[in-house]
Amino acid sequence: MRISVIGCGYVGLITGACLAEIGHEVSCTDNDDSKIQILRAGKLPIYEPHLDTLIEKNTREGRLHFLANPGEAVRGSDVVFICVGTPPLENGDADLSAIDSVARMIATEGGGPKLVIEKSTVPAQTGQELKRALSVYSRKSGITFRVASNPEFLREGTAVMDFLHPDRIVIGVDDDSAAKQLREIYQPILDRKFNCPAHAGKCPAESPAPIFVTTTVNSAELIKHASNSFLALKISFANALADMCEQLGADVQEVTAAVGMDPRIGPDFLRAGLGFGGFCLPKDVQAFIRLAERVGIDFTLLKATEQVNKQRIDILMEKARKALWVLKGKNIAILGLAFKPNTDDIRFSPALDAARKFLAEGAILRAYDPQAMEKTRKLLPQISLASSAYAAVEHADALVLATEWDEFRKLDWKRVFSVMARPLIIDARNFLDPAEMRALGFEYHSFGR
Ligand code: UDX
Repeated sequence: MRISVIGCGYVGLITGACLAEIGHEVSCTDNDDSKIQILRAGKLPIYEPHLDTLIEKNTREGRLHFLANPGEAVRGSDVVFICVGTPPLENGDADLSAIDSVARMIATEGGGPKLVIEKSTVPAQTGQELKRALSVYSRKSGITFRVASNPEFLREGTAVMDFLHPDRIVIGVDDDSAAKQLREIYQPILDRKFNCPAHAGKCPAESPAPIFVTTTVNSAELIKHASNSFLALKISFANALADMCEQLGADVQEVTAAVGMDPRIGPDFLRAGLGFGGFCLPKDVQAFIRLAERVGIDFTLLKATEQVNKQRIDILMEKARKALWVLKGKNIAILGLAFKPNTDDIRFSPALDAARKFLAEGAILRAYDPQAMEKTRKLLPQISLASSAYAAVEHADALVLATEWDEFRKLDWKRVFSVMARPLIIDARNFLDPAEMRALGFEYHSFGR
């Protein structure tokens, strides 16, 4: 199928590359011309495992194109995926102006009727508005558009595999022909017939075929809201539980491990620590709270989820003050800057929120992250960046582990012990083994253990 993807951010690039990999003819476009130039030069504006291989291969084989002219991309396609940003406005609402501009562009430059699919995370009822906007903007041409919703559940760091091996593919449609077209697009994924990039071409036996869920457009939009909000709720629950464990002499990891064995609860997203960050969960929770307010519902459960999350940084600072007394003038090493491992994304990163607090109290920061240093250098030049984890901890009065990169588990901790001014670890991700660290001589603090 001939597909155009509008927006070359995380969702757009993964969608475009993966749809090309499963056999479609894909044109990706973005109104940021510099992004298109970077991609055309064979480079990537983001770091994401497997994405470089997929883009290189599909561009070389002629299925994937990057076009600076959105009209050209849309004219040559039957289906358009909208993957533009919907960042939060100051009042917490999602900014939908990019979707509106895309609707105008499709209607005026698109050349003919198409199926327009919203893939960006949008508030419920955006599909209705999009349909209305398309019909207003195409009033003169009389071209009609169908609108569908196909929310994306991919996680940064595992995005390619999440796209190709989803648990479910949710489509929200108003008519059978849209459902048929979407099923056709995803058929290779439903049949698991594609070259799986992480498993030498074959899909892993343990990954079952995804479930194809067909709903109305409104329901599909709400499924996305509900999924992300529930994930955030689980994390905040685990964090509140960690505080209880700390006061009552229990170990939150032992507790969540056993609680998660109940299939009604499940083991995932119960890791306590510094809380959730990134570009999705915080903004989606906020947008859902706003949406609830607009329809007259006080969603207190989600407000509490947000509040518990915000408190995580204060709790970290309290631990740091308790251990170090005065923070001003202390050398603090921060390991991990990205909002989670395996990504270079620092948007709404709890590690950076913590760094800002330490800086505000006059601490001297030295940080290291395997992927996120370049982006941090531009955003927070006050942090001195080290070339390795060992260089970051040299002469440090404390080490704050803020992102659980695998690389940090494998550090030579004896070496770390010997180069620190004071062997104090605050493990804000409950990543290291407390007994092991204490046996090495470290003063070790974590959350709820
Ligand atoms: C999330 C959703 O998981 C994904 O389905 C959606 O499409 C986009 O938003 P992502 O933002 O990539 O994905 O990251 P995710 O893996 O969900 O982690 C979000 C944050 O929660 C990270 O900061 C992570 O460190 C934190 N987290 C996650 C916890 O603190 N504890 C956990 O148990 C899990």
